[in-house]
This record gives sequence, structure tokens and C-alpha cells, in this order.
Amino acid sequence: MAGAFTATRREFPNDEQEQDRLDMFHHIFKLALGGKLFLAPIQREGPLRILDIGTGTGIWAIEMADEFPSAELLTSQVLGNDLSPIQPQWVPPNVVFEVDDVEAEWPDRKPFDFIHSRYMCGSIQDWPRLFQQAYKQTKIGGWVEFQDFHLVNYSEDGSLKEGNNVNRMYELLREACDRVNRPITIGVHLKRWAEEAGFKNVHHKVIPLPLGTWPKDPKMKEIGALNMLQFLEGLEAFSVSTFTNVLGWSIEEVQVFLALVRKDAKDRSVHMMHNLLAMLSTARGWTSLSTPYIRINPEYISCPNALLIPYHPSDPHYRTWLTYLPTSSNLDMP
Ligand SMILES: C[S@@+](CC[C@H](N)C(=O)[O-])C[C@H]1O[C@@H](n2cnc3c(N)ncnc32)[C@H](O)[C@@H]1O
Repeated sequence: MAGAFTATRREFPNDEQEQDRLDMFHHIFKLALGGKLFLAPIQREGPLRILDIGTGTGIWAIEMADEFPSAELLTSQVLGNDLSPIQPQWVPPNVVFEVDDVEAEWPDRKPFDFIHSRYMCGSIQDWPRLFQQAYKQTKIGGWVEFQDFHLVNYSEDGSLKEGNNVNRMYELLREACDRVNRPITIGVHLKRWAEEAGFKNVHHKVIPLPLGTWPKDPKMKEIGALNMLQFLEGLEAFSVSTFTNVLGWSIEEVQVFLALVRKDAKDRSVHMMHNLLAMLSTARGWTSLSTPYIRINPEYISCPNALLIPYHPSDPHYRTWLTYLPTSSNLDMP
């Protein structure tokens, strides 16, 4: 899913095709999260202040605003290289789109009940600083949730072999992003960065995202199909300018290589995936709604890296969930 790559803001398009791809990705995220927009157990009542970091097309913020009509949704977004905001004009009245660089010093403002950041790998240079700034602007008992990728391709059955061109492309993207100091292998660091910034009750879960329709599980198959679609749609956008500008390839070299990447991506005998990580934590202590329990969503039981969610014992399925409690070694990234 090299589409998680954004790299230098200057290098990457935010044209209509890219906006469609981001919206498609929104559905992949929701599918991966069991239909949810977020996992944090935020209070549903009362006026909430919510911040969406790097909002993209704004689709997450708009759906949140509909789900929480009394909440105040603020988004921060840099301008894309067409120098115009890309969010739609008609949005719920409780959403405010701001042009704001989250890597700069955050403006003084009232703290938030919930800060959400999704798919910012390849965009941020100083992740620890981003967490520190988020910590300062999260209310006590408020939540942050970062959903992001760890863009290392793998297969669980050994079908991904050395020399696979999708794999090679991931390696080259990683190299290019590391060179411009905007890494795409950040998923496994989210928890540590949160803890170092002072967040408590830090949880994370790992969700494998397949590439292609090879999984037998229908839900994973659907995720894989959409992932393939966005991958093929975005391939040129996130590789041509990076490979030429950062790695020094010619356009012709890139085009020849991308043809090989497309061919290998469509090979159903290779069971490729990479991980999406969701990290959630409170600024300080648990809110009244949350307890240090976890549950595993049975839908994901067939997945080796099962879903991890803070859990409340008033849930009628409490006992069922308990039987699925993983060992402590399941709680973190392998
Ligand atoms: C890959 S997109 C993800 C969009 C959205 N979060 C989503 O999940 O659909 C990354 C977004 O972050 C924005 N972005 C990149 N660097 C940023 C920064 N320093 N401050 C604010 N937004 C930024 C980009 O303009 C782009 O819209």
C-alpha cells in the first residue's frame, strides 16, 4: 500500500485523482476498524472539541461532525501544491477547516477532547515533537488516536520472494523518504513516541492490510481489493516525482519499473500485506467511560494480529470477550 506515502508536500499532487484515492482509503480504514471512524472511547455526550491533523479531503472530519452534531471539529491542513484548499465547500456547520502547518509551533488554543491523526507517514519530519504538541493540547482525560502505517511489505506464508518488484518499490520509497527525513516506517514507533510525550494508557493494535483479493476471509478480501485499487491509482503519483527528484531516476526508468510493479502487484499467488497501526491513549488517566480492559473483536479472531480495544465491563458481551483475552505478548507489535 505504497499509497500511504505522501513525502514532501511539494512533490505530491492533491488533484482530483489523489482526492478520490484518499476517499477510497477512508473506506479501507473504516473497514479495517470494523466500520468505525475511531476506536478511542470518547464521551459521546456534551460539546466535544476535536482536532483532525492533516485532514486531506476532510472526509473523516465531515463524517465525525455528522456523528457528533454538538461537537466542534477543527482540522489542520497545509495547502497542497495547487495552492488551493481541497476540502468541499458544503460541509456540516460544526467543521472548521484551517490552513495550518502541524510541524510548526501550534497556535495557542483551548485544549481538545480528541485529537485524531491518520495517514501522515511520509509527511512529518519530527514525530516526537508532533506528539509533544498534541499532548499539550489534549485535555486531561481526553484522547488522541493515531492511525498510521508501517510500510514494510511481508507475506506470512513465504510467497513473497526476494526480487518482487512491489517489494522493491517499497524499499525505494523508504529510501527516498528517509533521505528527505519524512519516514514511512513509523507505525511501530507510535506507542513509544506517545509514552515519551507523557501520554498514559497507551494502546495499540496491528491490522494487516492485504494487497489484492487473495485472502479467503471476505472482509479481508474486500480490504485487499480496495487496497489494490488505490495502489494502482496512486502508483504514478507517489513514485514518479520521488524517484526522479530524490533518487535521480529518469522518467523512462521509472515508467519501465512501474510496469514491472503493476505486474507483480496483480500476481495472486503472492500474498502480500503490510501493517496499519492504530495507537490510542489518554493525556492523563482513564476517563469515566474507559477501563483498562481490552477486548478482541471476534470478527478478527481469524487474524493472527487481533484487534485490541479498550473495553468497558458493562458491555453485554463482556464474558465472551474475556475468553478471547490474548496473552500479554499479543498486546504489542511482534
Ligand atoms: C496522505 S494525506 C492523509 C489525509 C487524511 N488524514 C486522511 O486520512 O484521509 C496527508 C495529508 O496531510 C497533509 N499534511 C502534510 N503535511 C502537513 C503539515 N505539516 N501540516 C498539516 N497538514 C499536513 C497533506 O496536505 C495531506 O492532505
